[in-house]
Amino acid sequence: MNILVLGSGGRESAFIKKIIESPQTEALYAAPGNAGTALWAENIPLDIENFASIKDFAIKKQIGMILVGPELPLVKGIHDYFLADSTMRDIKIIGPCKSGARLEGSKSFAKDFMKRAGIPTAAYQSFKSDQIESARVFLRTLKPPYVLKADGLASGKGVLIAENLQQAEEALEEMLLQKKFGSASETLVIEEFLQGIEFSVFVLTDGKNYKILPSAKDYKKIGEKDQGLNTGGMGAVSPVPFVEDALMRKVEEKIIIPTLSQLQKEKIPYSGFLFIGLMKVGDEPYVIEYNVRMGDPETEVVLPRIESDFVELLSSVAPKKLDEIKLKIKSEFAVCVMLASGGYPEKYKTNYPIEIGADIAAETYLFHAGSFVDELGTMRTNAGRVIAVTTLDPDLRTAIKKTYTQVDKVKFKDRYFRGDIGKDLLCI
Ligand code: AMP
Ligand code: GLY
Repeated sequence: MNILVLGSGGRESAFIKKIIESPQTEALYAAPGNAGTALWAENIPLDIENFASIKDFAIKKQIGMILVGPELPLVKGIHDYFLADSTMRDIKIIGPCKSGARLEGSKSFAKDFMKRAGIPTAAYQSFKSDQIESARVFLRTLKPPYVLKADGLASGKGVLIAENLQQAEEALEEMLLQKKFGSASETLVIEEFLQGIEFSVFVLTDGKNYKILPSAKDYKKIGEKDQGLNTGGMGAVSPVPFVEDALMRKVEEKIIIPTLSQLQKEKIPYSGFLFIGLMKVGDEPYVIEYNVRMGDPETEVVLPRIESDFVELLSSVAPKKLDEIKLKIKSEFAVCVMLASGGYPEKYKTNYPIEIGADIAAETYLFHAGSFVDELGTMRTNAGRVIAVTTLDPDLRTAIKKTYTQVDKVKFKDRYFRGDIGKDLLCI
């Protein structure tokens, strides 16, 4: 099969690596891709929001499957666009239609959906700009800290946690009246703060059957010990040691099954990945958010642990035959450290040459997140997050050590990374 992967981050590099390992893959393309995807696929300079150009390319190259990496094309309806055209019905899209993508595209929709399904999540209310007084009243019923979320997509920056009521009221005005996040904050969700430990669970579903993929923990803050600004993710670990069987069973029974049944009940066709961000409060899982795609850098630790043929797995989605697949997962720990440009997530410089030591261990995964090759053939940085380094080992402590040993072999000017990825999990 000829396959096209949309996106250009570390997540897409991990998809490409896994897809090229499958004997079912014939031609493999990444759009737009990066220097890492180019190692295994042909990069195509397509705009992933220009569905007409993706269609033309897909027809020309007889693409059988399109794996959509980021959320934006899904929220904008790429799957619906392909379904609406009878000439493209044979091209399978991995990712939900627009109606299902609202689980990520609108936080108030997602919260109302969870409420209808009885899924455990933080108490909340949603408000529009003409309801600012009611929002103030609701804030006063909550205890600090206060959680305020822009309803729409805001590149992972739309959540504000205010320490006191004054800060919360200021944030409320900034978001609702001054439209801090543009149209994304026309509606605001205010919710109760949940105290606990976060982890993520990933599901692949065909709308009828589902497979639970390995759990992962992401490190979202730029600084060690979770200090400082939020980023796209500075590292990840899979599996999460505190997610034991009993907790996973609760996640499946109280969250995964009710989510998928509610989608069916509401006649929302959903196929593809569902990424559930969770908080373990005491012994109970609560949903923090849904994403309608895989996580980045969580994919960089989840995929190396999948032993089954990934293309066979993805190919079972459209015919709704996921139940026929036996998912094999490696029991080893995967640890990923993200190498970033100094200054990220604020201002940073790019275009620095990337040096990869010849002594890098053969079993290291280098998933490029933001790199390109210049006209002289030099690999250079071109984003905030540059390369994700992943290694595996049966022992978590050894996996952490192995990853950091390899991190030292990938160099570029102003390189920044967190030195504490996974270390908190050794003492839980
Ligand atoms: P989200 O974009 O919804 O995942 O939120 C971003 C981050 O804010 C999460 O990863 C949590 O760390 C934090 N967060 C969101 N909602 C809550 C909540 N209700 N209680 C505590 N922390 C939260
Ligand atoms: N790493 C978090 C995300 O992909 O949303």
